[in-house]
Amino acid sequence: MAKRWRGLLPMLAAGLLASCSAEAQREISFSKTMQPVFNAKCLQCHFGGRAAFDMTRDDSYQDLHKFIKPGQAEASPLYIKIKGGHPTVNPLSTAEIEMLKQWINQGAVKN
Ligand code: HEC
Repeated sequence: MAKRWRGLLPMLAAGLLASCSAEAQREISFSKTMQPVFNAKCLQCHFGGRAAFDMTRDDSYQDLHKFIKPGQAEASPLYIKIKGGHPTVNPLSTAEIEMLKQWINQGAVKN
């Protein structure tokens, strides 16, 4: 009886590891994933020059990039700000903060 499970466990573990690394490597898209989050959660204040930068402008990405150290989320003022509780109307979820981190760590490219 126990013997049957012994073979199964390593298989399960290997499957879990494989799905975890696939998750970590999934590329976060700026246009498909981050832009909609910024639009939904940052525009309330960041438009029309009301605060720091204007997310409705075409160059908003460049503005945002001033606060990003590509590949280093933990050292990026943007990530530090958002994680540290930047004033928001509609706070980012834990999952969205994690996506922001991954996107920065993947180079913060406009893809
Ligand atoms: C409730 C209004 C409000 C919301 C919502 C908001 N911000 Fe801000 N943000 C501000 C204000 C006011 C400042 C300028 C003061 C400061 O630096 O805290 C600012 C500054 C910033 C700065 C730094 C700019 C600088 O010159 O130092 C960044 C980066 C930033 N916000 C990003 C974001 C992002 C990304 C979002 C969406 C997740 C967001 N903010 C949502 C009000 C807001």
